[in-house]
Amino acid sequence: MKAAYIDETGPPEVIQVGELPTPELESQQVLVRVGAVAVNPIDTYIRGGANYFPLPTPYIVGCDLAGTVEAIGPDVTQCSIGDRVWGSNAGIFSRQGSFAEYAAVDECWLYPTPASVSDEEAAAIALVGITAHLGLFLRGQLQEHECVMINGGSGAVGSTLIQMAKAAGANVIATAGSEEKLTVCRNLGADLAIDYRAKNLNEMVREFVPEGVDLYWETAREPDLDRGIGLLAKWGRMILIAGREARPVFPVGPFYSKCCTLLGLVMFAASSEEQRVCGEEINRLLATKTLRPKIDRVLPLSEAAGAHRIQEEATIHRRGNLCGKIVLKP
Ligand SMILES: NC(=O)c1ccc[n+]([C@@H]2O[C@H](COP(=O)([O-])OP(=O)(O)OC[C@H]3O[C@@H](n4cnc5c(N)ncnc54)[C@H](OP(=O)(O)O)[C@@H]3O)[C@@H](O)[C@H]2O)c1
Repeated sequence: MKAAYIDETGPPEVIQVGELPTPELESQQVLVRVGAVAVNPIDTYIRGGANYFPLPTPYIVGCDLAGTVEAIGPDVTQCSIGDRVWGSNAGIFSRQGSFAEYAAVDECWLYPTPASVSDEEAAAIALVGITAHLGLFLRGQLQEHECVMINGGSGAVGSTLIQMAKAAGANVIATAGSEEKLTVCRNLGADLAIDYRAKNLNEMVREFVPEGVDLYWETAREPDLDRGIGLLAKWGRMILIAGREARPVFPVGPFYSKCCTLLGLVMFAASSEEQRVCGEEINRLLATKTLRPKIDRVLPLSEAAGAHRIQEEATIHRRGNLCGKIVLKP
């Protein structure tokens, strides 16, 4: 089968696209004929040598996928041949990744794809949709009519958060870095969209929500805790998802005196049961078109290295004009 893989970690150019054997199934695995995959920042960290866990050699890159069930192991109970499925969690904890014509995936990480949803859309929402749902509801305990602020609302995670938070009945403030991306945030449902460089950002937020923000979601890898915690309401919560190297100043006074809570989240730490709750709710939102994955571009799998470069430029170096997911098709 055709696959995008690495023999050693390094820059995007270490990704090769070539022939590898079609994977053998373990008893609880499903062989998915891949229709589409999506690039995530973590794919680039792993390929770059982040060393979160040992990698098989060769290592097929990628976490997310959507496609059609081609074969099932003897202990599979939820999936049948011919079913359309999507999921994340490939390529981590020493498992093989998804960027190939076929992927063997434990059935616990797969969800049925609604008939009205394309493989491109399902792959694009996988990791970011589960992350957003875990953070807003399991970790963040978001309630109807609360105010959520998303720092980085036009990105892949941010664009999903805006839509999910609106669907839950929250008021949403989003930041972005250009007029075009502020318009994207508004079109996704943000009630207030602000340039994250605006000198009067704090004033604009306080004018919109004088009591402060109930849930502040930071997508940046170098979080400004002083600003975020400063904007929180009494009993406010802040969610951090990025920045392993970051060691920001922590504003103790405003944090404890407002009885705030700081929540960390890594999607892969959630159990398959917790993630399935997210998958089922994402399916409901996708099927009703309440949630529309933000796809920036669709490329052939042969351009996996270029796709990694574009993702890395956008997320790490903050260059380029990516706005949502890069989807690849084998
Ligand atoms: N912990 C987890 O489970 C988990 C899961 C998914 C992702 N993540 C992490 O979350 C981060 C975002 O992922 P993603 O897929 O959404 O990446 P992305 O699509 O590249 O989005 C990055 C976002 O950061 C914004 N941004 C850039 N500079 C900023 C600044 N100075 N202030 C505020 N926002 C700024 C961008 O806004 P503009 O484009 O408008 O400039 C964009 O919205 C990555 O670091 C990723 O590794 C963690």
